[in-house]
Amino acid sequence: MKVRFLGHACFLFSDDKDSVIIDPFITDNPQAPVPVSALRADPVLVTHGHGDHLGDAIEIANASGGSVLATNELAEYCMRQGAAGIPAHYGGVVHFEFGSVKVVPAWHSSSVGGDLRLVGVPCGFVIRFRGHTIYDTGDTCLFGDMKLIGDIENVELAILPIGGHYTMGPDDAVRAVEMIHPRLVIPMHFGTWDPIHVDPEEFKKQVEDRTPAKCIVLKPGEEYEL
Ligand code: NI
Ligand code: MN
Repeated sequence: MKVRFLGHACFLFSDDKDSVIIDPFITDNPQAPVPVSALRADPVLVTHGHGDHLGDAIEIANASGGSVLATNELAEYCMRQGAAGIPAHYGGVVHFEFGSVKVVPAWHSSSVGGDLRLVGVPCGFVIRFRGHTIYDTGDTCLFGDMKLIGDIENVELAILPIGGHYTMGPDDAVRAVEMIHPRLVIPMHFGTWDPIHVDPEEFKKQVEDRTPAKCIVLKPGEEYEL
């Protein structure tokens, strides 16, 4: 399977049969490497309602004949905007032809629109895709239950925010790698705007010095074969 980074916190997981996208912030992201019209995926996973994550989720789900999978209130919000939705919640596992998606906690907030309407709670996802296991934490700080998730899920690839300010920064993200103990790490949520400029190569060095994991730094548009 391929893991393609589409900028900020957006990843496309695919093989020749299926495509899953997470947090498709494309139209308003100057670093997005593809137009939203080029993207098809089902399901469309959304970790929380902030614009840099919900992004173009509804448009992509509709264009794909697919569904937005999110925590209850955010999925319901998307359904009221005309998308098919799969409302799920922490601990829930939703099954698909390619495998499954489990909803896990994240420490952040979740709102939509200019009036900051709250839409439930944010989440991370554990994605099982034809034998591969990916844990995307979503926007979050470091938290102790990452250890529990790592122990239970046997994570092959962890996708972690490193930009700080709104999420954990590089030092806490290295601690997250220690707790999740994945085989591979891909950093995200850095460099898009001023407050989250960090050096991903320094993060990679810290991960590889301090843990057995290999860190892959992708530029927007680049992909990694899992
Ligand atoms: Ni956010
Ligand atoms: Mn964010």
